[in-house]
Amino acid sequence: MWGGRFAAGPSAIMREINASIPFDKALWRQDIAASKAHVAMLGAQAIVTAEDAATISAGLDRVAAEYEANGVPVNWDLEDIHMTTESRLAELIGPVAGRLHTARSRNDQVATDFRLWVRDAMDEALAGINALQRALVMRAGEHADSIMPGFTHLQTAQPVTLGHHLMAYYEMAARDASRFADARQRANQCPLGAAALAGTGFAIDRHATAAALGFDGPTANSLDSVSDRDFALDYLMAAAQVSLHLSRLAEEFIIWASQPFGFVTLPDELSTGSSIMPQKKNPDAAELVRGHSGRIIGCLTSLMITMKGLPLAYSKDMQDDKPPVFEAASLLTLSLAAMTGMVEGATFRTERMRGAAELGYATATDLADWLVRQANIPFREAHHITGSAVKLAESKGVALDALTLAELQAIDPRIDERVFAALSVEASVASRNSHGGTAPAEVRKRVTDARRALGLE
Ligand code: ARG
Repeated sequence: MWGGRFAAGPSAIMREINASIPFDKALWRQDIAASKAHVAMLGAQAIVTAEDAATISAGLDRVAAEYEANGVPVNWDLEDIHMTTESRLAELIGPVAGRLHTARSRNDQVATDFRLWVRDAMDEALAGINALQRALVMRAGEHADSIMPGFTHLQTAQPVTLGHHLMAYYEMAARDASRFADARQRANQCPLGAAALAGTGFAIDRHATAAALGFDGPTANSLDSVSDRDFALDYLMAAAQVSLHLSRLAEEFIIWASQPFGFVTLPDELSTGSSIMPQKKNPDAAELVRGHSGRIIGCLTSLMITMKGLPLAYSKDMQDDKPPVFEAASLLTLSLAAMTGMVEGATFRTERMRGAAELGYATATDLADWLVRQANIPFREAHHITGSAVKLAESKGVALDALTLAELQAIDPRIDERVFAALSVEASVASRNSHGGTAPAEVRKRVTDARRALGLE
């Protein structure tokens, strides 16, 4: 394609290091679509004749049909998907194929193809997040009243409901969705027509090609158009953030499924056994989601480092933009599907959760709050009195509400029998009815709002 200037062909090493066809063949659909939009515009603007435009367009359809049937042939000599397609087009329709590249460069071509690909990947991520949100809302609705220990420092803190805990992940997923929606909007501008870097002297219609490819309009600066990969970085940042959330959720399931916790039985379909220990059921899917998150964050780091030193406009380093995005996208799709399946298929062992909440003195704060409210004791003093009650209960090996009134009054005579109503885990969660609190009524309210936002009611 550029042999005119050269006396010798590239060495084997040059051909190998230069070739992006092994991975950018994934862009073939976008490459055909962008070329068809380009040649239709060249025809409409009389830059090529209507007849040549029709011949080229029909030829591109034939190339696409071949790719569909047999895959994209990988030949390092043809470097990338753009040259592979153009060379096959020339074989099929002859020299008129050479008119397709008028008023275009591979620089704006690849920027356009990749944006189209990333836009689809954003839509796929949005669909995956939506499925996860539905699963979370469904299970949270079932468990708005199921009591479990809430943790800080992974130490029992206060009782919460499982529905509340699951809805916390719904909130993360909702932010993730808005991040992708925002990124999609920013990405949806068409670089085609920026040509190599400076624009073109041909009377092209960039608005027409942008509209034909479903973009909101053309990009504004030709140098930026061919050197910008923010859309890919936006994708990776949003993907890294989702995967970080998925990793935390996976970690919860891994902990909850361990025998000492026993809060959840994982779905068989998303677990594995051990080849030596017959009793084992391992949370491999969750562990791999946790692991994949590291790889996705690595993909983001990779592209950021690729881009950070590049002067305007295009440099060949930018060819390395695709592998990390492709890798992150396939890992993200899998991770979202795995965690959606995990949430949908988990059996929550609510009696174990409730028992753990009762054993951990999770209602100690409720005793302190009761002393403040009913006996008008300053919170710091109430905290101290409660500490003594916990110490006594611990030494007897019983829950707080299993202490007798006499025992409690020996610690502080201002305690009376009404305190027992505040010490149960039910009373504790029901009392936390501030906006966004764990009270079952509050959780149900939020579940209803979320179901409405998801179009489920
Ligand atoms: N394969 C190249 C890439 O993916 C296409 C653009 C090549 N442009 C160039 N000036 N060599 O970035």
